[in-house]
Amino acid sequence: MPVMEHITKIESEYKNKDILSLSQFDKKSLELLFQKTDDLQKHGDFSNILKGALATLLFFEPSSRTFGSFAAGVKLLGGNTLEFQNPGQTSSSVKGETLEDSIRVFSEYSDIIVLRHPDVGAATRAAQASNIPVINAGDGVGEHPTQALLDLYTISSKSGRLENLTIVLAGDMKNGRTVHSLLKGLSFFKNNTVYLLSPKTLKLPESMIDSLTEDGLTIHEIDSESDVPKNADVWYWTRIQKERFSDHNEYEKVKNTYIVTPEFLHTYGNETLVLMHPLPRVGEITPEVDADKRAIYFSDQIKNGLFIRMTLISLVLGRLK
Ligand code: NCD
Repeated sequence: MPVMEHITKIESEYKNKDILSLSQFDKKSLELLFQKTDDLQKHGDFSNILKGALATLLFFEPSSRTFGSFAAGVKLLGGNTLEFQNPGQTSSSVKGETLEDSIRVFSEYSDIIVLRHPDVGAATRAAQASNIPVINAGDGVGEHPTQALLDLYTISSKSGRLENLTIVLAGDMKNGRTVHSLLKGLSFFKNNTVYLLSPKTLKLPESMIDSLTEDGLTIHEIDSESDVPKNADVWYWTRIQKERFSDHNEYEKVKNTYIVTPEFLHTYGNETLVLMHPLPRVGEITPEVDADKRAIYFSDQIKNGLFIRMTLISLVLGRLK
């Protein structure tokens, strides 16, 4: 039975919901979150919103930004965190404890659990074992909903809209969970066209192409840089997901396929383009590109990641009206 059958739609009511997949969202729920995020950023004094609340951060896979922004966000809101980085080596899971049992325990201590795990569907399993809300901070090659929320919010603020967009997504379409979630989000809005630039071996799974097309997204799969359209509004570059390869030689063959350099940007990018990356980058955008005003992976995306997560947790915990 597909795990996603159990997930609840948001329908503009975030309180007590698990946040597991972009499939739970719709246009209105996203717009509500973005409005609340704008309000929180402008409001300034948010230091008591999560007073007395405790968030457990359980990260079984490495993380810098997602972990850091959740930890910082909860603390900036006046809440506390119980932090496990690498619980696969530091918690009772070393002794063989199941994910479900760990979740049962942490859901007694805290108000919300943020989980990153290498297995697809792990966050949904955790939500079923938990009596407090669970946020999926990345489940293997599955989804990364909070990254997509910050990406959509960033596109909306930079481009002024989430419809009628032409977006190039480049890199690992097969294993990249950030693109899986982002594409679902883009499919909620009218008249969006995406170009998926990836090596032939790392294409988006057929089933995803089918369901996204059914939802109205226009998809062009390309594998040559020369097919990148010059009228794109957004480029969303990603790394090839090395840790998902069982054969290291296969990774070596594809690792540096598409690299954004100043020359590439000059040839294919236009003046109003927005260049995004979920980070970490490992060579697919050269450092000389960072100073270009169109590159926003170290500025808008980072700041928005903090505020989207702060707003999301506050809504889920019923602390924001
Ligand atoms: C991404 C992830 O973990 O999926 N990182 C992140 O959270 N921003 C992207 C990646 O690791 O390539």
